Amino acid sequence: MLHWPESHQVAVVSVLLCWLTLCWCSPDPRLRESLMQQEASRQTGGRLLLTEAELRLSAQLHKLKEQEMKSSDFPPALHFFKAKPLIQRSLIYSLLQRMPKGAALHVHDFSMVGVEWLVRNVTYRPHCYMCITEDQSVRLLFSSGQPKPKPQCSSWMLLESLRAKTGNTTDLDNSLIRNLTLFTEDPEAAYPSQDAVWKRFEQAFTSAWGLVTYAPVFKDYYYEGLRQFYMDSIMYLELRALLPETYELDGSTHDSAWGLKTYQDVTRQFNKTRHINVEIECSLGIYVCLRRLNASMAWKAVEEAMNLQKAFPEIMAGFDLVGREDSGRPLWYFKEALSLPGERGVNLPFFFHAGETDEEGTDVDGNLLDALLFNTSRIGHGFALLRHPVAKALSRGKGVAVEVCPISNQVLKLVSDLRNHPAAVLMSEGHPLVISSDDPAMFGASGLSHDFYEAFVGLGGMNSHIGTLKELAMNSIRYSSLSPQLKEKALDLWQRKWDKFVSENSQ
Ligand SMILES: *[C@@H]1O[C@H](CO)[C@@H](O)[C@H](O)[C@H]1NC(C)=O
Ligand SMILES: *[C@@H]1O[C@H](CO)[C@@H](O)[C@H](O)[C@H]1NC(C)=O
Ligand SMILES: *[C@@H]1O[C@H](CO)[C@@H](O)[C@H](O)[C@H]1NC(C)=O
Ligand SMILES: *[C@@H]1O[C@H](CO)[C@@H](O)[C@H](O)[C@H]1NC(C)=O
Ligand SMILES: *[C@@H]1O[C@H](CO)[C@@H](O)[C@H](O)[C@H]1NC(C)=O
Ligand SMILES: *[C@@H]1O[C@H](CO)[C@@H](O)[C@H](O)[C@H]1NC(C)=O
Ligand SMILES: [Zn+2]
Repeated sequence: MLHWPESHQVAVVSVLLCWLTLCWCSPDPRLRESLMQQEASRQTGGRLLLTEAELRLSAQLHKLKEQEMKSSDFPPALHFFKAKPLIQRSLIYSLLQRMPKGAALHVHDFSMVGVEWLVRNVTYRPHCYMCITEDQSVRLLFSSGQPKPKPQCSSWMLLESLRAKTGNTTDLDNSLIRNLTLFTEDPEAAYPSQDAVWKRFEQAFTSAWGLVTYAPVFKDYYYEGLRQFYMDSIMYLELRALLPETYELDGSTHDSAWGLKTYQDVTRQFNKTRHINVEIECSLGIYVCLRRLNASMAWKAVEEAMNLQKAFPEIMAGFDLVGREDSGRPLWYFKEALSLPGERGVNLPFFFHAGETDEEGTDVDGNLLDALLFNTSRIGHGFALLRHPVAKALSRGKGVAVEVCPISNQVLKLVSDLRNHPAAVLMSEGHPLVISSDDPAMFGASGLSHDFYEAFVGLGGMNSHIGTLKELAMNSIRYSSLSPQLKEKALDLWQRKWDKFVSENSQ
């Protein structure tokens, strides 16, 4: 312990006091104003010139936000499962639902459609069988006859007979819904760790697998997904698609090219039958493979992606690896496979999930830099980006947008209070980013609106305004894989929808 002589302390204090008195004047208010302006102009949308009508709408939103922030149950601070009913009642949310949000750039193929539809429509179709595994999770399958027994599963039961026998189907249907989503009343207790929640997440996908890979359902599911996103005021979609083998009732199967062709046909059909006068409504697939595969399987997947891209240049946008980063293999492990397109002179854009982790300094944490080294077109999640200043600078410099998925990160336990989401920082400095929803059906979210709410109210706080929303929507087109000509067309169309929205809603 060090004891300073009394006189010494006095000397320090008096020097300080003297210094304070010398410049005891309040800071220049103009300087203060200018610093605040500088900060405001750096944030997402901070430099946009806004119209009178936009400013009026912004003032309304500001007032609504003030009210919501005063509430003791501030939705972004709560787990989404608890926040959802509050969000649904919010006037901000209902505006966001109607707001033209542009494109959804990070959504997975089998988590687009609200699970209600899977249960109430799909499982009511004929020939749908169910068995229950030892750990009480369901497996579902369509089959013309009794399917052959599945290991570690009960005997197959025809749902139609089961429902006829029980009479009241509410409990059965609700248990199916619970099997197919992560929703639970008490998420903190049900999912004490990331491992626990990922285990359930993967289980829910496995439960849905036999439904969504049944070819007729595969088609209808995608159509219904387009419809639900369209109803959420989204005009364009880029889907992370596994393109798995699909099956028919007679046991015959279809390959990934069939899947892609089906996406193309259904998109065209959706475009044609909506009877809504819009010029551009298309969607692109990003072919994905699982990051738990080994190097030789990944090699095959990249080759497959190159073939698919050659066969479907208009709708096949590129390649990604999916699955939990923390338990999968790091990108660098796949370097040979990922170098294949370059070596063959093929341009296969990458759209890597990277930095969906809080395990700083691990191999997986290296994915952000590696994704950028492989010239990724966008970064999925980039949750760890703040901890990688070089990756962050590269992403900004090269205009590699981060796909921010707030609800996904919260439900999968990377962050609990969304005001503390790292993308709040990215937003405050205008980093290139888009808002997306990752697996909305699994979380009970729909389209992009719930995630936009969290981004606007939670991440942006009182700083985000109509300019923020406008820039986020424009970013989704700007950073999409559309060609420059289509981007221009899409931006024009979006602008018209936007102006209409603003004029209808600003008072
Ligand atoms: C299920 O959806 C399809 C279209 O996707 C529709 O034709 C059919 O009527 C629906 N069936 C039920 C039972 O809701
Ligand atoms: C079916 O069961 C549920 C829950 O067990 C109950 O709330 C509902 O009223 C029942 N419906 C009918 C028609 O009996
Ligand atoms: C899944 O469904 C089965 C059968 O109805 C049920 O016993 C089980 O509790 C459900 N699992 C979940 C997680 O709700
Ligand atoms: C959708 O329809 C419009 C015309 O109504 C057309 O210009 C556009 O190319 C179509 N998009 C797709 C993906 O078919
Ligand atoms: C990679 O995985 C495949 C499929 O699981 C397996 O057949 C193959 O032997 C594995 N290759 C290596 C080198 O481990
Ligand atoms: C990434 O892009 C740079 C600059 O265009 C190029 O030199 C490099 O070879 C690319 N890297 C890969 C792995 O494609
Ligand atoms: Zn994802």
